[in-house]
Amino acid sequence: MKILYFKLRAVVVTWLMRLLPRNPPIVYKGINSALTLCEQVAVLGYTKVLLVTDHFLDSSGLLDGIKATLQKTGVEFLVYDGVLPDPAFDQVQAGEAMLRSGHCTAVIAVGGGSVLDAAKMMAMLHTNPGDLKSFDGIQKCKKPGLPLFAIPTTAGTGSEITLAAVITDPVTHRKAPIVDSKMIPGYIALDAQIMKGMPPGITAATGMDALTHAVESYLSKASSTTTEEHATAAVRLIFKYLQRAFRDGDDMEARDGMALAAFYAGAAFGKTSVGYVHGIAHQLGRVCGTPHGNANAMVLPEVLAAYGDCVHPRLARLAGVAGIGEPGDSQAVLAGKFIQAIVDMRRDMDLPLQPKGLKAGDIPGIVDEAIAEAGALYPVPRYMSEAELTTIVNALRAA
Ligand SMILES: NC(=O)c1ccc[n+]([C@@H]2O[C@H](COP(=O)([O-])OP(=O)(O)OC[C@H]3O[C@@H](n4cnc5c(N)ncnc54)[C@H](O)[C@@H]3O)[C@@H](O)[C@H]2O)c1
Ligand SMILES: [Fe+2]
Repeated sequence: MKILYFKLRAVVVTWLMRLLPRNPPIVYKGINSALTLCEQVAVLGYTKVLLVTDHFLDSSGLLDGIKATLQKTGVEFLVYDGVLPDPAFDQVQAGEAMLRSGHCTAVIAVGGGSVLDAAKMMAMLHTNPGDLKSFDGIQKCKKPGLPLFAIPTTAGTGSEITLAAVITDPVTHRKAPIVDSKMIPGYIALDAQIMKGMPPGITAATGMDALTHAVESYLSKASSTTTEEHATAAVRLIFKYLQRAFRDGDDMEARDGMALAAFYAGAAFGKTSVGYVHGIAHQLGRVCGTPHGNANAMVLPEVLAAYGDCVHPRLARLAGVAGIGEPGDSQAVLAGKFIQAIVDMRRDMDLPLQPKGLKAGDIPGIVDEAIAEAGALYPVPRYMSEAELTTIVNALRAA
């Protein structure tokens, strides 16, 4: 009965995602495109903006060029640097209060997915005042938010192009997925220069998040010719560049390739949604504080293997895209080789396999929430049983 409800809901979600009106953003790409984007702030007529970031990025000097460009072009700015990883309601409220009291008319977000998500919601809350809980779900904001300029500093979440913001409710610790097509930033800079200093561990984890977006989008029942094109582009780029960027952060070709990969993956999953890997990863973030990319990497191959035969044809095609396999390999063999390549990549980049502090008693809650999240939002290729998901999550304690 529950599965039937999930299937009907998946059809509704699929059509909603397809029909949502989206304004295509303007994208600047290449070295120093973040500065080009900042020059456009004045050209577009904004004279006072809120710069949203986190404390580490602000104190590291990463924003110096951005601040200097805004000053040079006569744009006044206030800085909100209070965003924490997996941002919570209070940070959105504090940032919005700053932009309201400072009479800012646009928002510039410079940071990873946490900063971008918090900034998206600050811009929305400003024009849609209310309880943040009431935005949990699909298309709950009535008015467009303040104009938003996005400069991602990690190559992972794709939040710069997605219609989602994941904001944690500090009372329930639930990571609320707020989905609204009005949240897609209007202006984006994909600037590898700003990602150059990313440490290898964050490069690896965020890159695995992008890979998970691409693969889960490709397997989604809501995928289309366009999303498949974007998802395969991301897979191609990630297999070519992620380990290179991990090993040598100064390899600008690899950094540039990963910035584009995360963007393509975001474009794909923003229209198809994700799957059980994210359903589980969000719970690991909630219960154990596991960073999002690490959490995805812990279960991506295991979830793909558990889907079984139904995903073999699609995984076989992704193996071809990634340059894996031999002529004559069956679809099942190619699917197995693709999954093994992800395991190898995960090992090569020394990604952790176990969430810190996961207790046996946490597992039923994680499984229940993952089932509920996937059932409500993700058109997965096959619905898994509680027992199957329990096996996957249980293995994280024994790995
Ligand atoms: N909106 C979406 O579509 C979407 C999709 C996936 C994930 N998310 C959310 O995004 C968040 C995760 O974002 P993330 O993986 O980008 O990590 P993050 O934004 O939480 O950043 C992780 C750490 O990396 C540091 N960092 C960021 N850029 C850096 C750089 N260039 N150099 C050095 N350090 C740098 C940050 O200061 C932070 O300490 C989660 O909350 C997740 O739920 C959102
Ligand atoms: Fe993700």
